[in-house]
Amino acid sequence: MSSGSVLSEKRILLGVSGGIAAYKAAEVVRSAMRAGAEVRVILTSGGARFVTALTFQALTQNPVSTNLFDPGQEQEIGHIDLADWADLLLIAPATANVIARLAMGMADDLLTTVALATRAPLVLAPAMNVHMYRHAAVQRNIKELRNGGAHVVDPAEGEMACGHVGEGRLADTEDILDGAARAISTQDLSGVALLVTAGPTEEPIDPVRVISNRSSGKMGYALARAAWRRGADVTLISGPVDPGLRVPRGVRLRRVETALEMGDAVLEHYPKASVVVMAAAVADWTPDSVSSLKIKKGEGNLRLDLKQTRDILSQLGRAKGDRLLVGFAAETDRVIENARKKLEGKNLDLVVANDVTVDGAGFGVDTNQVVILDRDGTERPLPLLSKERTADAILDSVSALLSPRARS
Ligand code: PMT
Repeated sequence: MSSGSVLSEKRILLGVSGGIAAYKAAEVVRSAMRAGAEVRVILTSGGARFVTALTFQALTQNPVSTNLFDPGQEQEIGHIDLADWADLLLIAPATANVIARLAMGMADDLLTTVALATRAPLVLAPAMNVHMYRHAAVQRNIKELRNGGAHVVDPAEGEMACGHVGEGRLADTEDILDGAARAISTQDLSGVALLVTAGPTEEPIDPVRVISNRSSGKMGYALARAAWRRGADVTLISGPVDPGLRVPRGVRLRRVETALEMGDAVLEHYPKASVVVMAAAVADWTPDSVSSLKIKKGEGNLRLDLKQTRDILSQLGRAKGDRLLVGFAAETDRVIENARKKLEGKNLDLVVANDVTVDGAGFGVDTNQVVILDRDGTERPLPLLSKERTADAILDSVSALLSPRARS
């Protein structure tokens, strides 16, 4: 699932501490609510110097908590109730000061008190001046908090409000919500090195023309996102797709164009991978020769000689070792029969049979309908689902097959 669907109906307690990036917390609130989360805000006294409680009250439609010792607020919803209410405590921005107090285990204001009282996961999105961020004391405190189980969404690099350029800007809202989604997801793929491929390949005919296919990359990107969220160490090898298609910052992304490049990239990463999921629509044929000049339009038809590309998955299957291999089978007829042939012929553990003639399934769309086949002859048909949910279902099958060794 995208961070959106994972956060749906989750209760996020957002702590806003006192830095110039506090104004960006309003965008975090809006995006989290758009993703279906309910949000309540704790505004520290520092945070209130930059943004008002009214802003967050208007956005969340919930009262904003500011003071540990205000009897009115405690009566409305006390600090223990807030701590119990939350599915997730997200602090964005987290200043050097709040990070230090959390690392010390202090409870000297409402936010730090709730952080100690809650059993919900803690996500910190630090934001501060680059020199402050790099200071040994801040780094030590962040490390301490990480060791204690906190999730830290590293700040972005760039120009800061103080005029300095470097690391310390509050991470993008999407990265913060990705971090939140990962923090509340089961980490069943933790320690798994997972290689995913996505998108089409483009086989050049001449400098201006290519042969390609209709793959958008959505299925493979959804798999990469879901695997990262579930704790895997993910490498995504992507053919040419819409640059707007995004993956979390934690996913290693390698872009390629041709089938040859995709094969080389996959083989390069293969030794380190314990699971490979080939969702890419790799070209089966490529022009035998590529014209260095644009082919001129003549009188008659143009004939192209195409040669077969290497079958990457078959090559992986021959050197499988104890890896887990998952292939896709994009079919238009005798879907299950053809998919099973690929499962056996390519020495796979699972094959995802994708009838691309079904409405709302296959290429380009946001949804898919697949059947997961395994070597024992089991068929697991899935209903029409978003590609995010389809990805999670495929990963459930992967997770069930993984040996404890692959997770180490
Ligand atoms: O990208 P989207 O728009 O979201 O669409 C998703 C999808 C339809 C592309 C995806 O769900 C899918 O079905 N991907 C596999 C497409 C495909 O190439 O299927 P195939 O049956 O031709 O290939 C079988 C398997 O061999 C695939 O895992 C493929 O990645 C792999 N292969 C194919 C050719 C080749 N030269 N080397 C390979 O490794």
